[in-house]
Formats: sequence, C-alpha cells, structure tokens
Amino acid sequence: VVFKGIHLRKVREGTTDVFVPDPLYYVKNKSEYIPTALPVFYNPVMEINRDLTILAVKTYLDLSQEISENDGKILYVEALAGTGIRGFRLLNEINDPRLEVIMNDIDNLSKDLMHFNAAQLSITDNRLIITNYEANYLFAKLCNDRRKPDIIEIDPYGSPARFIYNAIRCLKSKGGMLLVTATDTAPLVGKFTNAAMRKYGCYLIKSPFNKEVAIRALIYFVGREASILARRVIPIFGIFTHHFIKLGFLIKRGRKEADKFWENVGWVAFCNICTEYYISKGLQNRPSSLCEIKEHGVTEILGPLWVGKIFEEEFSRMMLKNLDHLNINQRNAKLIRRIFEWELSAPHIPFFYDLQEIARRLRMSTPSINMVVDELRRRGFEASRTHFNPRGIKTDAKIRDIVEVLKGISASLA
Ligand SMILES: C[S@@+](CC[C@H](N)C(=O)[O-])C[C@H]1O[C@@H](n2cnc3c(N)ncnc32)[C@H](O)[C@@H]1O
Ligand SMILES: [Zn+2]
Repeated sequence: VVFKGIHLRKVREGTTDVFVPDPLYYVKNKSEYIPTALPVFYNPVMEINRDLTILAVKTYLDLSQEISENDGKILYVEALAGTGIRGFRLLNEINDPRLEVIMNDIDNLSKDLMHFNAAQLSITDNRLIITNYEANYLFAKLCNDRRKPDIIEIDPYGSPARFIYNAIRCLKSKGGMLLVTATDTAPLVGKFTNAAMRKYGCYLIKSPFNKEVAIRALIYFVGREASILARRVIPIFGIFTHHFIKLGFLIKRGRKEADKFWENVGWVAFCNICTEYYISKGLQNRPSSLCEIKEHGVTEILGPLWVGKIFEEEFSRMMLKNLDHLNINQRNAKLIRRIFEWELSAPHIPFFYDLQEIARRLRMSTPSINMVVDELRRRGFEASRTHFNPRGIKTDAKIRDIVEVLKGISASLA
C-alpha cells in the first residue's frame, strides 16, 4: 500500500493491525534498522513498551470503576504518537466505552497516517481525536480549554525532560496517571555526567547499580517538576529493559503531599573497592563519605535521587493479574511477569549487590545466584533478584554477610 508517498506495511501487535512505513522498503540492511529514518517513526522493539501501557491503562480503568467525574469518561493523551499504534491498541484491545483517546504528533505525515489507520480500523466514533500540535503547545491548550486528561503518555525519541512540567500541569491533579519513556539512557546511567546535570539536575557517574540509578534519577526529576506545581508523584512502576526506561506515576495534589515526595529524595554513596553502599534520606543529609572498612577510603556520592519505592504493590499486582486477561505476545508477557515478580519481592530495598563483582574480588567463580538468594533467606535476611542486573541481589544483608554465604557455598562444594 502506498499512501501520500509512504510505502506502508501492515503489522500486528497484540490483536491490532496497523499500517506503518514498510521497513523492507526503507531499510536496505536489516542490521541498520533505524526507526528515525522512516517517514513516520515506528520501532517494533517498543512493542513491549506499548504492552506496558495497555497493562497500566487497563489497571487504571479497573481502579476507577466508581469514579464518575467527566461524565465517567477517562481521557488518555499520547502527545508524541508517531503512527498512533499505541492509541489504536488501547481502543481495540481494552475495549472500555469510558476510554477516550487523543493522539498528537507535531509531524504532518504522522497525522495523516493516523487518520489513514483510523479509517482502516473503522474507528469513526468520537472516542478518538487526532491532533497536530507541538506537545507542550497541546498541553497548554488542554489547560486553557479546561480539559484535564486522566492519563498522559510521553514517549519521545530521547529525553522526556522538556515535556514533564507542562504534562503535569494539565493532567488531572487528583489521581491522574503519567506514563513516561526515556531512551537517552546514556546520561542516566552515568556515562555523560554533564548531560545528566543539564537535563536532570543530578550528579551521575558510573556505579555498580547503573540502571537503578537511572530510574531513580528520572523519578527524582519528574517529582521535582510536579513539586513546583504543588503536586506529588507516586511511582507505580519503573522498568529498564532493552534500550529504554519506562515509568508510571499516580498524581496527588497539595503542598503537604508535595512535601512528602522530598522525604524520599536523598543520595547514595558507594565504595569503589568493595561496592558496599550507603543511602541518606533528605536533601540535607549526606551519606557516609568513607567506606566502613577504613582502608577503602572515600566513597563516590551520587544524587539527588529518589530513594523510596519504585513499585507500588497494589497497582503492580493488578498489572500482573491483567497480564492473564490481555492478548500480549508470550515472550513479552513472560519478561514483564518476571520483572514484576522479582521487583515485588523486595520493593522497599533500594539498590543491590552485584554477585559477580563480589565473587571476583574473592577470586571465586560466581555461584548460582538463586542459591545465594535462598541461602540469605535461610539465614533470616530478605533477599530477592532484580531486573536491573542479572547478577544483582537486593537484600538487607551487608557485603560481609554475602561474603560469608559465598565462602560457605564454596567450602561445601570443595
Ligand atoms: C518515539 S516517536 C513516538 C512513537 C510512538 N509513541 C509509538 O509508540 O510508536 C516520537 C514522535 O514524536 C514526534 N515529535 C517530536 N517532537 C515533538 C514535539 N515537540 N511535539 C509533538 N511531537 C513531537 C515525532 O514526530 C515522532 O513521531
Ligand atoms: Zn569498601
């Protein structure tokens, strides 16, 4: 199919068929698949990101069963929509008459393609509105028109930072939901310290828990923007997979609420020699600048970061349940299930130890991580795996406890 000069191809995600620029036409070499080189952006790898949106929106709808503001309508806005595949999937796969969708993109061709897809899918009712504004302009216009979305999604190419303030300003302030994707992961994992400072106001360097630092820095940034508007964001999930970060938040309103956010902002210090880490809560409180093992000397200090929970148990468990009720591709469903199950088994423990690092320093081979987790639990500690690192263990044990476990395991094997 050729539409307005774009060579299209039908793809299926979930149970939805959408036309997207044909990669076979636009990408000559499969290893060079570049979504931004297409006339309208489409990245098949992001199917799992869209699956997470569907799970979160479905869960939000389940939880707002009794709420009847806005005539019982729930308005979802995707401000940077590309082909519109995300919004089409929501309308098609959730199938809840309360759900209304606004899909917006600054690009004209993207707008035309969204109209084309709407017609193909025979979506003609007023549950879908397609607009063609700059995203911040759209948010300001929604505010101006007193139209308060219940859910806003920001899925840009790169950093979402420039859109957060305006999105929160127009989002429903009592119980709205914000979904944010970031693909500029390099500054957030500490590879580009200056870029992280500019965009997120955090001092970030490489650390043994890079990916979790990235999530916590972004939560800090979003919460700070909300706090200017006397709103508080409550993180409901924070996932780092493939090349992207995806966060979900619920919004509360009021200065007292916003103050609560800052109770869980702090710093993390880590020892470059043994990887032990130290957390402080409150912007004014710095963690130890020395490792507890004196000879190790000074620690590195990163922050400010969100140091509270990343996963909200009730919401996350409902998302997990909804996995069984939605038509999500099996491979993605399996990955999502594992992420939630691991993170929900120690949701209040920030950061983790890298088992491989510890074993390497002991000049041991790395034992089975599940064995170490079980042994820690047997000894009365809390312990869990984490999706932030395949060899990471979240635990309330200290490094010395883990070292004992490792020595025990190696002795029993010898
Ligand atoms: C990563 S793509 C979106 C992909 C889409 N969310 C999906 O799931 O397939 C980013 C889109 O944002 C659009 N865009 C870039 N800057 C924008 C802005 N300031 N306002 C609105 N749209 C913008 C681009 O045209 C592009 O289509
Ligand atoms: Zn140390």
